[in-house]
Amino acid sequence: MPFKKDFLWGGATAANQCEGAWNVDGKGISCADICTGGSYKQAKRITPVLEEGTFYPSHEAIDFYHHYKEDIALFAEMGFKVFRFSIAWTRIFPTGEEETPNEKGLQFYDNVIDECLKYNIEPLITISHYEVPFALTQKYNGWASREMIDIFTKYCKTIFTRYKGKVKYWLTFNEINGATGNFGAFLSQGILNEGTTDFMHQVDNPKQRFQALHHQFVASALAVKMAHEIDENYKIGCMQIFATSYPLTCNPDDVVLTQQKNHIMNWFCGDVQVRGYYPSYMKRFFKENDIEINMEPEDKTILKEGCVDFYSFSYYMSVCHSADESKENGDGNLLGGANNPYLKASDWGWQIDPKGLRYSLNEIYDRYQIPLMVVENGLGAYDKKEADGSIQDDYRIDYLRQHIEQMKEAVEDGVDLMGYTPWGCIDLVSASTGEMAKRYGFIYVEKYDDGTGDYSRKKKKSFAWYKKVIESNGEEL
Ligand code: BG6
Repeated sequence: MPFKKDFLWGGATAANQCEGAWNVDGKGISCADICTGGSYKQAKRITPVLEEGTFYPSHEAIDFYHHYKEDIALFAEMGFKVFRFSIAWTRIFPTGEEETPNEKGLQFYDNVIDECLKYNIEPLITISHYEVPFALTQKYNGWASREMIDIFTKYCKTIFTRYKGKVKYWLTFNEINGATGNFGAFLSQGILNEGTTDFMHQVDNPKQRFQALHHQFVASALAVKMAHEIDENYKIGCMQIFATSYPLTCNPDDVVLTQQKNHIMNWFCGDVQVRGYYPSYMKRFFKENDIEINMEPEDKTILKEGCVDFYSFSYYMSVCHSADESKENGDGNLLGGANNPYLKASDWGWQIDPKGLRYSLNEIYDRYQIPLMVVENGLGAYDKKEADGSIQDDYRIDYLRQHIEQMKEAVEDGVDLMGYTPWGCIDLVSASTGEMAKRYGFIYVEKYDDGTGDYSRKKKKSFAWYKKVIESNGEEL
């Protein structure tokens, strides 16, 4: 049996995409709360002042805030060993800077954690998942400012202390490396430069993004160190988007370009967070891009002392690169690059590549030699309700089966894999487009993009399939 006996099978969500209750029980406004809905063709808009009559998907989402008991019971029915969710920073510190935390927010996560533990489900908590308090964007322009380090570590101290003894696994920043590209600046760094209205396309300032990343690295390292001091059983991971890049051809120009792209997108942040120092290849990149990182004298030691315990990542697609620029920017692939002629893409243009997961797992493990966890993977698809109300999502089963098969191969190759939490185990709002129509779940939620729906939950065909996968520890696929 390739998977370990205690392999962590489960599912993943994020607060802003599922909780709703955006202004309930003292919660403050997060960056996610000022984003409108969008679609594959129509980008979400950022509206610093909320518009009357505009629909904001995070405000209600799937109302996990009031349905968590029902949802966790369904996860338990599938046999989850782990549930990955995030804490909404603004439930704990509504503007980020209050003297004392909001007790009602802390209590909500006590309830969620207790509900998981009732079923022996291990909570895996993302501390910051695309929901920087908007007040911090307004005051500091998010992570562009070094002030954020103290504000973040105070938040970490509050939750590490409060949930001590109940939680073991934490992730500091979701997909931290998204900000090596323009789309991560608002989404994960809470940076909003004047003139930006398109959610995925910030008025770009690469120097600012990389400086903000440095602040996040320092904050993450301080959090790792603090967590270990608060509870020696805590295990803290980094979290990266890993989209393996292949050269489009064996032309050495394509190969070298791809190596450079991989360095920045896939390796840079992991190298800092796992090894505790900036990799040498960044020197040239910074020089050629006129970027100078301001560092305090203590930062080097902080990074070295705050290396993560495990490496986690999301995996949805791979990309190709070509030195011939006319071939780059293939249709739809979120992360750019050229189209891979051997792969099919999802309805949102994400190139589906199960074998790329085996390849990535091997590459990452060869490099770091610490336990890995796939904390996101899945197929965003249009689900159709049949006349009898059932959802026959065989395409989702196929997608997940092929990826699990490749994880199995990677484990046979010798990779130390801790667990697997497919994304959006229950349907939720899409991060990139704000749609409900882009569904990932084993559980269907009656909620639609025009805001209608009664939030009722329904098992899809994949629900029973995944239950069997977990029961058989990945043997029955
Ligand atoms: C990851 C994010 O990038 O991909 C999630 O961590 C997100 O928040 C997921 O939802 C899937 O992306 P999307 O845009 O289809 O929701």
